[in-house]
Amino acid sequence: MKLELRGITKRFPGVVANDRIDLVIEPGKVHGLLGENGAGKSTLMNILYGLYGADEGQILIDDQPVELRDPGDAIAAGIGMVHQHFMLVPVFTVAENILLGAEPLDRFRRFDRNEARRLVTELIERYDLPLDPDALVEDLPVGLQQRVEILKALYRDAKLLILDEPTAVLTPQQADGLFASIRGFTEQGRSVVFISHKLREHRAIADSVSILRRGKNVGTLDPRTTDEQEMANLMVGRPVSLVIDRPQPTVGEVVLDVRGLTVTDPTGVRVVDGLDLQVRRGEILAIAGVEGNGQTPLVRALTGLQGITSGSVSVEGRDVTELTRKEILRGGVGHIPEDRGAEGLVADFTVAENLVLNLWDAVPFAKGRSIQFAEVQAHAERVVEAYDVRTPGTTTPAGSLSGGNQQKLVVAREIDREIDLLVASQPTRGVDVGSIEYIHEQLVVKRDAGTAVLIVSSELDEVLALGDRVAVMFRGKLVGPFPSPVSKEAVGLMMAGVDPAEALQRGDT
Ligand SMILES: Nc1ncnc2c1ncn2[C@@H]1O[C@H](COP(=O)(O)OP(=O)(O)O)[C@@H](O)[C@H]1O
Ligand SMILES: [Mg+2]
Repeated sequence: MKLELRGITKRFPGVVANDRIDLVIEPGKVHGLLGENGAGKSTLMNILYGLYGADEGQILIDDQPVELRDPGDAIAAGIGMVHQHFMLVPVFTVAENILLGAEPLDRFRRFDRNEARRLVTELIERYDLPLDPDALVEDLPVGLQQRVEILKALYRDAKLLILDEPTAVLTPQQADGLFASIRGFTEQGRSVVFISHKLREHRAIADSVSILRRGKNVGTLDPRTTDEQEMANLMVGRPVSLVIDRPQPTVGEVVLDVRGLTVTDPTGVRVVDGLDLQVRRGEILAIAGVEGNGQTPLVRALTGLQGITSGSVSVEGRDVTELTRKEILRGGVGHIPEDRGAEGLVADFTVAENLVLNLWDAVPFAKGRSIQFAEVQAHAERVVEAYDVRTPGTTTPAGSLSGGNQQKLVVAREIDREIDLLVASQPTRGVDVGSIEYIHEQLVVKRDAGTAVLIVSSELDEVLALGDRVAVMFRGKLVGPFPSPVSKEAVGLMMAGVDPAEALQRGDT
């Protein structure tokens, strides 16, 4: 199936998400969509899948204009989509999810369980995507849930399969497995739209790639013959540096000392399971892992957002497990939270107010019971300037800044003060490539100023680029740390639960 988009425009309040986009997807090919967060990739594909109507433009299938009013229309036209956030029913089985809305019925018009299992088993074998048809989706790791979504689209005989950021939830080896499946689909004449913000993945799988920037298609090119630097520059709209300059660390005494830390979730599962960890002055310890292996509760426990079940956490020799979040933050711990909306910023507060969020009632911002507004203001102006936060002013509500600038604001606030320990969780999530570069530099600067830095990230490239020591979190336990450099392959294997000795050996070859 040949698919063509002509002049697709989609406006949301205050933003043109897609701006006159032209695109041709050839049969049997993988077409990549590359672009930073917010560039308009998901919007464009949601239009193609009938979830949003375009304000302008046309969709053609095999040169015929079509109207896709809802996903039913898109599926009937042979389009299947695996969303960035899965749309499965967690309490249903694999088979039930795959067949949902197209279930086989027996002669009494009841759901035919045996036929369902047979159909799904056949599908699993045909596409070589192993799964247990009777497993509950909620019990599956995300990588396998993705497989369910793919099979669901294939069951409906998708001729064009849209995969929106499919590798975000996979280890590098699982991503290679997915790429092999994608090649299988194209050999059957199906087309695939592959969305990712990672250049390297497009080089590995795409036949052609369109780069979106601020809603516009700024170029369609062959990723195998175009160099990475050129693609990065196109994506960002200016020259960017792809490597961070990171001198050798000068490591001092232990600042963060975690022993036997256990955190239990409300259902009694040990999401952090007897974990030991030390971070020293002047070093970055970076923790990789597929999301959902306990990284979030670990960080929350270290920063006073969550209680612990057993074990101890000390900072500079002081036990902090009984302290409140505010006491921890004031006691010399900086925290760049994963969810800046909920935990990092108060959207309705101004930029200036957000910059003193946990400090406003202390010297110099308060004297006695009175807030020193001039101090708060002067501080904000200096920080906004120094950390290049793009905002109309310091009295602008933080919620109206772009995602990247909100993140810079949080980073600036946490880095600018005197701290012994910085805990940074997903420090560049949702941030444009230009700001990523900047935030990485700042983390290294903080390290070199003698702070102990703990980074938790699901972006493996980030972990490898920044970590002086690298560890992996798997099922609530820590694997490692290992001194840098560690091969990407080895870390990827450990993220999938492979024994570290074996992973390091296999990763080397
Ligand atoms: N449902 C929506 N309502 C309002 N704005 C939206 C909606 N969906 C996306 N946007 C905005 O459209 C732009 C493009 O978003 P999106 O297509 O999700 O980008 P990408 O997938 O490339 O990260 C962003 O500015 C985003 O905030
Ligand atoms: Mg998206």
